[in-house]
Amino acid sequence: MRAQELIRKKRNAGTLTRDEIRFLIQQYTRDSLPDYQMAAWLMAVYFRGMTPQETSELTDAMMRSGQVLDLSEVPGVKVDKHSTGGVGDKVSLVVAPVVAAAGVPVPMISGRALGHSGGTLDKLEAIPGFSVNLSLAEFRRALAEVGCALIGQTNEIAPADKKIYALRDLTGTIESVPLITASILSKKLAEGIEALVLDVKVGSGAFMKDRESARRLAESLREIGARMGKRVVALLTRMDQPLGCAVGNALEVEEAVATLHGEGPRDLRDLCQELAAWMLVLAGAVPALKQGRERFEELIRSGAAAKKFQQIITHQGGDPSVVDDPKRLPQARKHQELAAKDKGYLAGTNAERIGWAAMALGAGRTRLEDAIDPAVGLVVRKKVGEQVERGEPLATLHFNDERRLADAQAELAEAFVISSAPPAPVPLIFETLAPFPATESSGQEASRGGAGRSERG
Ligand code: URA
Repeated sequence: MRAQELIRKKRNAGTLTRDEIRFLIQQYTRDSLPDYQMAAWLMAVYFRGMTPQETSELTDAMMRSGQVLDLSEVPGVKVDKHSTGGVGDKVSLVVAPVVAAAGVPVPMISGRALGHSGGTLDKLEAIPGFSVNLSLAEFRRALAEVGCALIGQTNEIAPADKKIYALRDLTGTIESVPLITASILSKKLAEGIEALVLDVKVGSGAFMKDRESARRLAESLREIGARMGKRVVALLTRMDQPLGCAVGNALEVEEAVATLHGEGPRDLRDLCQELAAWMLVLAGAVPALKQGRERFEELIRSGAAAKKFQQIITHQGGDPSVVDDPKRLPQARKHQELAAKDKGYLAGTNAERIGWAAMALGAGRTRLEDAIDPAVGLVVRKKVGEQVERGEPLATLHFNDERRLADAQAELAEAFVISSAPPAPVPLIFETLAPFPATESSGQEASRGGAGRSERG
């Protein structure tokens, strides 16, 4: 087989076979295929797309490029959650302990912040001592002993994705539904899970800026997940403003901890409740979403979820006292308010700009090797739809380095739009694409909270 023939075949809108796709992925992972050929093939895929069968073969080949964990020794249905990324998205820090506290194992392999969007690993590392670098043996042990492990992608997990993602980033081939689908699912399915809840973000702070493209991605993820024998549900959720209020690593841990204590912003709590409820449904721990939501409430109210988070932190070498005393997290030395220039209603925010502002303060990175400052970031003080008085704070910036402040303020200058009339309400959850095959109980309830589209297999 010759790579140039496969590039030409895809360029001419042909359909590749399993063997052809495997050949490309295996050769590239072994460094036997040069970057320029893989880049050309990726660009052909970008323009010509892939059939669901091809996407499924690509996912499988990428998943098998490294170890596929067999967690059958851990009792229970293993379930994870993945977000396509956004600003202020600290959901994993809440749902992983809640679901583990319900007795459902959560093996979670997460990513780092890049560009305007945050990453779960950086948030966890804001907890003094917390290690996300567990070996796969330690990962298994944590899962067996605590019911949850939160780690970064190791070299053993889907190495083809790591290499291809870096190349896509440099060759303008990120925004392709089949490539994104294979990238996300190859990593997640290598974790040894049986079910997956996907939070596909839509809006200015998301990867997918509009509902149509987000839905195409969600449908692809659900279909390919099902083809690979997994139960997958995909929710399309709002990302036109930060989720919750805090943006920045330690600040987000503090807000996640507040949510685990039954406090925390309403939108964050509601989304965590819905995603956790779906995880419990897919794992078979509850018969339907309604009971899943109730279970979430109970585990928060009883303190079991907060206690589980302490156990997870302890097991991964961190200081569990941050759960009772979040002021032990890194704190920025300086603060500055961003005041509203007008009175009226907060009609909209640009979540992406808010993410870039946090990054400018040092909370994120432009390149994976950049260092971050765990203490810095910002806390929005107004959510879309709220009334604002002139001079009232719209956000509080937490920073350590005065020189970074001006850049963050410049990003924020156009990030908040104030109007004289209240904006039309926007739902937190636009749609839920129920899993294939739809469970009897989940099908009817899937549309709650959104514009009401629920699809069944
Ligand atoms: N996240 C991933 O893991 N992969 C993509 O291709 C895009 C977003």
